[in-house]
Amino acid sequence: MLKGKKIILGVCGSIAAYKSALLVRELVKNGAQVKVIMTDAAKEFIGPLTLATVSKNPVESSFVKNDQGEWTNHVELGLWADLMLIAPASANTIGKLANGLCDNLLTATYLSARCPVVIAPAMDLDMYQHPSVLGNLDALKSFGNQIIDAEHGELASGLVGKGRMAEPEHITTYLESYFGRSQALAGKKVLITAGPTLEHLDPVRFIGNHSSGKMGYEIANRCYEQGAEVTIVSGPVQVKKDYDAINVVSVQSADEMLDATLNHFPDTDIAIFAAAVADYKPKTKADQKIKKNDDSMSIELVKNKDIAKEMGLIKSQNKKQFTVGFALETNNEEENARKKLEKKNFDMIVLNSLQDKGAGFKHNTNKISIIDRNNITKFELKSKAEVAYDIVESIIERL
Ligand code: CTP
Repeated sequence: MLKGKKIILGVCGSIAAYKSALLVRELVKNGAQVKVIMTDAAKEFIGPLTLATVSKNPVESSFVKNDQGEWTNHVELGLWADLMLIAPASANTIGKLANGLCDNLLTATYLSARCPVVIAPAMDLDMYQHPSVLGNLDALKSFGNQIIDAEHGELASGLVGKGRMAEPEHITTYLESYFGRSQALAGKKVLITAGPTLEHLDPVRFIGNHSSGKMGYEIANRCYEQGAEVTIVSGPVQVKKDYDAINVVSVQSADEMLDATLNHFPDTDIAIFAAAVADYKPKTKADQKIKKNDDSMSIELVKNKDIAKEMGLIKSQNKKQFTVGFALETNNEEENARKKLEKKNFDMIVLNSLQDKGAGFKHNTNKISIIDRNNITKFELKSKAEVAYDIVESIIERL
């Protein structure tokens, strides 16, 4: 599975750095090309010559290559890689990555890399439990980085607990399954609605909502990484897609979102309705800015069409299409979500409960349950990037 994959291995100053030689050997044995970047501290624990020999590539650690002032191009390194693995990742480097600090070649390459980043921390028991480290790991997860949790065992200090870097074979297996899975949606066309809709009252005013679009865009990124051809029909959002090849159709109102979705839906294998579509729109839109003449004003609203429901009706003729909806509920959550599953002819529905702390519009985290006609699976509070993994994995399992 790692055949031909280009991997940058970042090695930090940690006693676990001695295992990097074994890790490189495992990766190379499985067909990967590996380039190693070491921090200065890492060199106290393992010699660059060892890692250069096992990786069959020069080891980089400095911005300047030689006395002639030739520099090591971290941007090129970042673009070269299919994946950047930082193992062992020390508390110090994790702190820098989480905060955009960039004082060595490893951190500069991290900031330049467009590829997925996988981080395997290693540190002592109490350090790994410290709120600052946990907060930094959460920040990295929210950027979409993947963390291979440290393992339990005897630590260099003599303490026993969690903090050992995951064993090289476990890291290799993780990467194999990561790359192996990445073709699960090859040949599939995925359509995702995302963000809010804005319903205009006049040329300058609208009724809208706080949806950031993060959830829909993260799902789009994950589907793309799994080999799918992805289109997002997107309301106005600040969030950016990770990949140029993801097609974005920008819309404002629910009517525009419906039209764009109708255009793409017949050709779609999987549709995911993550948008927070306004249920109502003003009955009329004034051509000119409305003046404040009276002491009060009322706006008559009329119902928008339900995009997911409309697609559910079309889907009845093409039973191979797989559709996924979202339900944001405050009470009788499971029952209400199941009603939506039926009413909108979804194959799967993702339930967020507003009762859960950290779930919903304004957070980087979400806590979901995935419901289909037979099962309900409840997940922990996670970053939206990780939740997107869970959702896409759940779709793949059901296809
Ligand atoms: N949805 C849609 N078009 C609409 C409204 C909702 O496509 N006009 C989709 C959402 O993207 C989501 C699902 O339907 O996937 C459920 O949305 P939600 O607002 O929870 O459901 P409603 O049917 O509007 O029910 P409620 O009365 O709870 O607001």
